[in-house]
Amino acid sequence: MVPPGYDPTGRQKACGMAVTKEQVLACLQGINSPEGIPLPDTGTLSDVVATDGKVFFSISVDAAQVKAWEAVRERAEKAVRALPDVQSALVALTAERKAGAPSARTPPGPAPAGARPTPRGGGENLQGVPGVESIIAVASGKGGVGKSTTAVNLALGLASLGLRVGILDADIYGPSLPKLLAIKERPQTLGGTRLKPITRYGLTVMSIGFLIDEETPMIWRGPMVISALTQMLREVEWGALDVMVVDMPPGTGDAQLTMAQQVPLKGAVIVSTPQDLALIDARRGIAMFKRVNVPVLGVIENMSYFLCPHCGTRSDIFSHGGARHEAERLGVPFLGEVPLHMTIREKSDAGLPVVATEPDGPHAKIYRDIAARVRDQLKGGAGRAAPKIVIE
Ligand SMILES: Nc1ncnc2c1ncn2[C@@H]1O[C@H](COP(=O)(O)OP(=O)(O)OP(=O)(O)O)[C@@H](O)[C@H]1O
Ligand SMILES: [Mg+2]
Repeated sequence: MVPPGYDPTGRQKACGMAVTKEQVLACLQGINSPEGIPLPDTGTLSDVVATDGKVFFSISVDAAQVKAWEAVRERAEKAVRALPDVQSALVALTAERKAGAPSARTPPGPAPAGARPTPRGGGENLQGVPGVESIIAVASGKGGVGKSTTAVNLALGLASLGLRVGILDADIYGPSLPKLLAIKERPQTLGGTRLKPITRYGLTVMSIGFLIDEETPMIWRGPMVISALTQMLREVEWGALDVMVVDMPPGTGDAQLTMAQQVPLKGAVIVSTPQDLALIDARRGIAMFKRVNVPVLGVIENMSYFLCPHCGTRSDIFSHGGARHEAERLGVPFLGEVPLHMTIREKSDAGLPVVATEPDGPHAKIYRDIAARVRDQLKGGAGRAAPKIVIE
């Protein structure tokens, strides 16, 4: 018989009270660093966030000590998970590089002339995610070009082709999937250790946004992102998937480059709008993947042309075609054009992506055609041989 106040697994039941930061810190007093110092006294802890039974924090250590600290991270996470009123706990171990010191976790600087590229091709040197056949990134150098909208509709397009598809929101600074897929529920924990992703429109979905409240201050900075991402890949029960689409944060800085290096990517899809400035950023995005030897599966031109919702007249307000030309110039496949259309925006922002909710409409067809090209790129072995890219 289950004693009162306990659930059938023997854990003390939540009593309606949420765990506090102070309780977490008190619990961590019982966990020692490799040098035997109680964790809260080591100066390695980030702010501890405890909202609604979800706890996270990170431990930042010198890159050279990461191995010794991994066991501490595990113990801390386990101890916090065992606290009453804790539904999930995520403890990230992050490596800080001392100025001037090389770090295993930091991306390589620009390769010196004649240097060999980073030994990393199509993710073959990285541990894959069990059960997941191909992981692809949807990226752009620039923010706001429609990456997340494209990632969601591309994932749905791939699913409509009969593939088992997951989507991971790697935009830890500004997660979009809770909104784009209208997901309000929190993921459940499985056996207290792994997270069960959410299923929506047939997609398996995970976002850091499911775990944090919008008001939570963004404690995720710099290298912390990497640990959080690694955990979202490895501690989530993704199940068997043909493709996992990763919605990347904007930009081509160190965080993005490191991510591109840490995730075993089969390829990257670059989203750009047609303007020159966006194209310059797209080129940076392509160059970034090139640096880590991830094949570019192709470029999508988003907001390619404007279709008037009233009369259907088309206007090329952003000088349409720029991304196609750029793709041709750089020797990467061009995957298709998505118009700037009110329906795409309204549906996307309402959590009702067009491919799922208007499957017979013209926009869904465009995304499905793009998805078919991405699938063909993956099938064609794009994950093994990088297409020729002629930029530096
Ligand atoms: N083809 C389109 N037609 C109309 N609106 C679009 C289209 N693509 C994206 N949008 C809208 O543009 C806005 C930005 O899109 P989205 O959030 O997908 O961009 P993003 O590149 O992921 O942005 P961020 O860099 O902030 O992550 C959203 O309001 C979205 O609905
Ligand atoms: Mg986005």
